[in-house]
Amino acid sequence: GAPVEVDISKLEPGMLLMVEWRGRVVWILDRTPQMLATLEKLEPQLADPNSEKEQQPDYAKNRTRSIKSEILVVEGICTHLGCSPVFRKDIAPEDLGSDWLGGFFCPCHGSKFDLAGRVYKSVPAPTNLVVPPHVYLSDNVLLIG
Ligand code: FES
Repeated sequence: GAPVEVDISKLEPGMLLMVEWRGRVVWILDRTPQMLATLEKLEPQLADPNSEKEQQPDYAKNRTRSIKSEILVVEGICTHLGCSPVFRKDIAPEDLGSDWLGGFFCPCHGSKFDLAGRVYKSVPAPTNLVVPPHVYLSDNVLLIG
C-alpha cells in the first residue's frame, strides 16, 4: 500500500483523528499536558511500559511512543484478536473503574491501553498497540507508511 499523507493542522489538544492506511485504522491523538502526565503514573499497571517487544520503530521507543511528545500515531487495532478499541478520554465505562485515567478500551474482551497505546497487565491483549512507520514532512504534514 502507498503511504498516506495527513494534514494535522486542524488537530487540537485532546483530539483524535482517524485515517486509513493499508486498510487499517490509524489514530492520531494530540495529547494535552494533562494526558501526558498520566503516562508515567500508570507504568506500574502496564505489561510492557518500556515497549521492549518491538511494537514501534526506533524513533518511537520512548515513554510517549512518539516523535513529537504530544502526538501519538498508533494503529487502532487491538493486539488480541483485532477488534477496534474505543478512545475513552477520561470517562470510563463502569467496568474500567473510577481510577481510569484515559486511554483505549477494547469492548470485545476488555483489553485496556493507556494514552500511548501501552497495554495493561492482566488483559487478553499480549502487546502494546502497533506504532506504524511515519515521518513528519513539515510541522503540519505527517506521512504514514
Ligand atoms: Fe480486543 Fe480481544 S480483540 S480484547
